[in-house]
Amino acid sequence: MMKNNPDSFNRRNLLKVSTILGGGGLIAQTAVPASALAQQSRLTEKDVLVKARERLYPTCRVCPVCDGVACSGDSGGIAGSGTGMSFQNNFTALERVKLVMRNVHDVTRADTSTTIFGHKISLPAVSAPMGPAGTKFGKGMTQQEWFDSLVGGCVAAGTLGAVGDNLTYPIEDVKRNLAVVARFQGKALYNSKPIPNEIILKWQPEIDATGAAWLSVDVDSGPKSVAQLRELVKAFKMPVVVKGIMTLDDAMRCMDAGVAGIAVSNHGGRRQDHTAGTAEVLPAVAAKLKGKIPILTDGCVASGTDVLKYLALGADLVMVGRHILRAAYGGGADGVALFMNRMRAELQAAMVLTGVPSVSKIDSRIIFV
Ligand SMILES: Cc1cc2nc3c(=O)[nH]c(=O)nc-3n(C[C@H](O)[C@H](O)[C@H](O)COP(=O)(O)O)c2cc1C
Repeated sequence: MMKNNPDSFNRRNLLKVSTILGGGGLIAQTAVPASALAQQSRLTEKDVLVKARERLYPTCRVCPVCDGVACSGDSGGIAGSGTGMSFQNNFTALERVKLVMRNVHDVTRADTSTTIFGHKISLPAVSAPMGPAGTKFGKGMTQQEWFDSLVGGCVAAGTLGAVGDNLTYPIEDVKRNLAVVARFQGKALYNSKPIPNEIILKWQPEIDATGAAWLSVDVDSGPKSVAQLRELVKAFKMPVVVKGIMTLDDAMRCMDAGVAGIAVSNHGGRRQDHTAGTAEVLPAVAAKLKGKIPILTDGCVASGTDVLKYLALGADLVMVGRHILRAAYGGGADGVALFMNRMRAELQAAMVLTGVPSVSKIDSRIIFV
């Protein structure tokens, strides 16, 4: 009897669910109905990836290791630009980072939760903003299903989703995208393309009304001057984060403009060919700015260990792009939640094995040099 009832809550079910979600660790802050957990527990990441491949091929081959090699030279889709070296450099720079195991201590459980701009989240990883992927990838999903999956899945895993937008899209598209953020009570970042401030400012009341966790502006899609950034910071009630920082100088200019956060990112290598990987740039930025401003980053995050590496290099929060895209195409919100929960479980295990009890205690001592 019990077996057939997905909602039955006994010790065996609890153990089963907690193994899937991270082996007795911190359970996601957002309450997930037991039936949803049971549903999710039937779905495996393998199923998700098979389905993702059916839907995404040939735009994305859903490679076992997503390193930008197989798609190098593809135009559009999810590849890097040009030869794809910037995408590949993100991968190799992160892969090169080695962790130090520390096993004689009393850390037997680690708390993976953290707080960003007042939002307590179950792990220091959120969705990266990804714009028109839904409709662009054909056989996939509608734009509505796409953003619902990104935000719904992340929220189910106790973290934040993302809506990537272009305020020059038809008004009804922008309104629908903003409505996703509002429906999930602002548990998502909202990225606006760096179109002229005049247009962004026209939408400011509606963007602020969604209660989004922050406004992200990807300046690698169109540079903004310090004065223009300052104008946005002054106008918006929500924190403004500048995404696309690859030098300390640019980070300092953002500080001058009064932004609330910076994101060290080369846009997944989708803007400029042959840049460094973000893991190479991050330490210099963090050496000067850690503790002064939240530092976000992204680039080839696929596992909890990757999250730990970026935090050890100085980031406060990572954003996940392509791996969430695959999860969304292969399993919708459930696929995204499954992926995020797996990352949290891995992060927790890796924190124990490197001897760090909480996110604030992660630093460069756990990097092997
Ligand atoms: C299909 C796709 C669409 C994207 N759209 C946006 C966007 O609209 N705004 C933005 O700031 N970044 C966008 N990005 C970049 C991501 O936010 C992120 O910086 C990048 O993908 C790096 O993460 P990853 O290596 O985990 O994919 C997009 C990335 C992909 C793959």
